Amino acid sequence: MANKVLVTAALTYANGPAHLGHVLEAIQTDVYVRARRMMGDEVIFMWADDTHGTPIQIRALREGIDPEQLIARVYDEHVKAYDGFQIGYDIFYTTHSEENRKHAAAIFEALRERGDIEERDVEQLYSEVDQMFLPDRMVQGTCPVCKTPDQDGDSCESCGSTYRPTELIEPRSVISGDTPVLRSSEHLFVPLARHEAFLREWLKPVSDGGTTILQDSVRNFVLSWVDGGLRDWDISREAPYFGIEIPGYPGKYFYVWFDAPIGYIAATEKWCELHGQDLQDWWKAPPGRGDGQTEIVHVIGKDIVYFHCLFWPAMLHAAGYTVPSRVQVHGWLKVNGEKMSKRRGTFILANTYLEHADPAYLRYYLAARLSSNQDDFDLAMDDFVARVNADLVGKAANLASRSIKFINSKLGGTLGPIPEDGVPVIDAVREKLLEVPDLYRNFDSAKALRLAMEMAETCDAYINEHAPWKVIKTDPERARAILTVGVQVSKMVGAVLQPVIPEWGEKIGRMLKLEQPLTFANAAEPLAEGLELGAYETLAERLQSATLDALIEASKADVAADRAVGAAPEDAPSFAYEVEPLAPEVGIEALGQIDLRVGKIVECEPVPKAKKLLRLTVDLGPLGQRNVFSGISQSYAPEQLLGKHVVMFANLKPRTMRFGVSEGMIMAAGQSDDKVTVIELDPRSLPGDKIS
Ligand code: MSP
Ligand code: ZN
Repeated sequence: MANKVLVTAALTYANGPAHLGHVLEAIQTDVYVRARRMMGDEVIFMWADDTHGTPIQIRALREGIDPEQLIARVYDEHVKAYDGFQIGYDIFYTTHSEENRKHAAAIFEALRERGDIEERDVEQLYSEVDQMFLPDRMVQGTCPVCKTPDQDGDSCESCGSTYRPTELIEPRSVISGDTPVLRSSEHLFVPLARHEAFLREWLKPVSDGGTTILQDSVRNFVLSWVDGGLRDWDISREAPYFGIEIPGYPGKYFYVWFDAPIGYIAATEKWCELHGQDLQDWWKAPPGRGDGQTEIVHVIGKDIVYFHCLFWPAMLHAAGYTVPSRVQVHGWLKVNGEKMSKRRGTFILANTYLEHADPAYLRYYLAARLSSNQDDFDLAMDDFVARVNADLVGKAANLASRSIKFINSKLGGTLGPIPEDGVPVIDAVREKLLEVPDLYRNFDSAKALRLAMEMAETCDAYINEHAPWKVIKTDPERARAILTVGVQVSKMVGAVLQPVIPEWGEKIGRMLKLEQPLTFANAAEPLAEGLELGAYETLAERLQSATLDALIEASKADVAADRAVGAAPEDAPSFAYEVEPLAPEVGIEALGQIDLRVGKIVECEPVPKAKKLLRLTVDLGPLGQRNVFSGISQSYAPEQLLGKHVVMFANLKPRTMRFGVSEGMIMAAGQSDDKVTVIELDPRSLPGDKIS
């Protein structure tokens, strides 16, 4: 009996376009779904946009449109992006739906009946001008900890502290600028601690008789939260709030994180309605694995573990739904070793990528490096190009192309038998193929693809050793047999690649005239002797680094366009100024070439007709005096510098300038001419002494 598997990726937040971080998760999920289908499981991939809450209200406000208009536009962008990346979801729904309202209400009602909803007064900031309570993100003010101005109501970008909006110094409404007052309002809480026993059971490893699969590191820190004491969860927000009104509590809305995961159920209900299925079979069937019962698998990023591993299972359990059997957590996507940055063009939108490069490249590269750990993922552009070209093009595509093209062009296009010396090659490859389903089942696509490359390499070595291009001159049937091994192995490699690059499997299917879609089980079935191959179809072409350069440039332009609609820079630096990016790393020997010395400024005067320059005489003690022109006159009056001990770049080749020869440089910081500060040394330092 086929396993029923319900898979989700996190619901993309609808306040902006999808970027490559979202795509990473989508691809990881999609590869898993496709691979499990190839194992014969009955899999549905339920997905949606997450459309409620304050950030969406704020974005809509900034753009001067209704939240409904915003989420409709973003929905189209998300679908376009995910379709472009060939994410094979079964439904992409929305949390702003009738189904979600219904299920949120039902789950709330179930909690209330059990006595799991408590009402309590909460002091909150209220704006008389806006006539509303201001949730965290609708109020800004000075950080109570480090005193940085203009911080959000819940956390400070500068020092990283989190606090309540009521703690902000000089709070003001982001809508009107009004100074809010404290007012008390009634909030609804779920006392999570009541579910502690259930959660501990749910968190048990399978080896201890538990039923949930969690990565060990995830389990451990979720347990540390439980050990630290479960706090009551505030699930209500005051109107006006863009969300779902709480039945029986006019003017109160579900906090977005209450209804967001319920969106998984709502999407399933909609899908069931469209496909004549019963929701009960998916969400009310007992959890299990390998026994025909439903598995529920969530793929999420490491920032939303709390919601998925505490609130969500507790809610499901309390309301009588199937609880997740697996939560798979991935790390953060970085680009070129750093957090995606709008300024550097590494904040890459999904749709911008699609305008420049084939999605197959990114699908391959991500899958080839993603495994079941939650380490951050560095999309290093150089490695991206190198890996795609070496593996996908140089190994997998090359094997199929050299075998199939040769047979088609020189041997009439028909397969021979597997020669005796090819049997061990096929056997070795089949051995590896047998490991692949479990790897994919465990989200270890990196290892699965590594095996695929080894399979191709093994066969490539065999073909090179037996050189069919020479053999053909004397024994064409022998050449045909050798290359038939290449075709048979390409079929098996194709099966491993298919979840990652779906068209790859389809092309192999056409070239090899397969009657059934490739599965892990049928990939090793021998191809018939005498089979007439179809025309060769290009499987992969080299990725050019210029393609990625253009992508980075285009991403910089995206940011400008985004600013034009008034969006806040999401990755705005935590500082009010910017500095130059670090230069590439160098070894210590690079420093050895530069001779830095203590210099004392003994003369300093303006240079007539040179607005920016000061002329300095710098004393290097036993090394004599130097004449230096320095572009610092907009930051210092000459007398401010006299007598200072400074850092001198002393072995710099003298440079002839219009006003005389400059014999070195003094070190200073600051990017604009009027904000230069000279690096000063302790006055006890000795002129001429080496700095190292
Ligand atoms: N709307 C919530 C999820 C609700 S699920 C019931 C949300 N949305 S999100 O759009 O901010 O993020 C969606 C998913 O993308 C999350 O799993 C998040 O961890 C992931 N990522 C967002 N940025 C990411 C990177 N830079 N790198 C990798 N994943 C990232 O959270
Ligand atoms: Zn602070």
